[in-house]
Amino acid sequence: MCRPFTLLRTALLFGLLGVFSAPAALAGQSSENRSVLDGVFSPQQAATGEETFQQECALCHMTQEFTGRIFQLSWSNRSVHDLFRSIRNTMPFDRPGGLTDEQYSAIVAYLLKLNDYPTGSDALGTTEEELASIRIEARP
Ligand code: HEC
Repeated sequence: MCRPFTLLRTALLFGLLGVFSAPAALAGQSSENRSVLDGVFSPQQAATGEETFQQECALCHMTQEFTGRIFQLSWSNRSVHDLFRSIRNTMPFDRPGGLTDEQYSAIVAYLLKLNDYPTGSDALGTTEEELASIRIEARP
């Protein structure tokens, strides 16, 4: 008597599993739901970003503008892509979008480093797909 229900339940269960596992499989499991606490940039990249920041940004900005409470209030719970895009679309002030995506990505890595987020083995990429999947989580 309960057999049809069991079948239905099984079908539902697999259906749900399919829904949840398909996007993870497509994106590669490790890139799903990452946050900046997971080591999303390399130390070398942050060092490159620091050089670029000194050359392209330090004329008008101090690093303190992008750290601590201000940074947390502005960027917590947004994605790394929000930060990347915001900087690329508006900076340097006198020539927005004037740097390469690699340079913007390295600057973002440097800003994350300044905020004491951990480094990892791989550099932060430049694609929207990757950057949008990484959340800027408040530091504990
Ligand atoms: C020529 C001066 C100048 C240079 C060079 C410059 N900026 Fe800016 N930046 C500004 C000014 C002025 C503002 C405020 C603009 C506004 O509020 O519309 C600003 C705003 C910003 C903001 C937004 C701050 C916020 O929270 O609202 C960020 C982030 C930023 N700059 C990052 C950078 C980075 C990274 C670089 C280097 C790639 C850079 N800037 C280069 C002048 C400059």
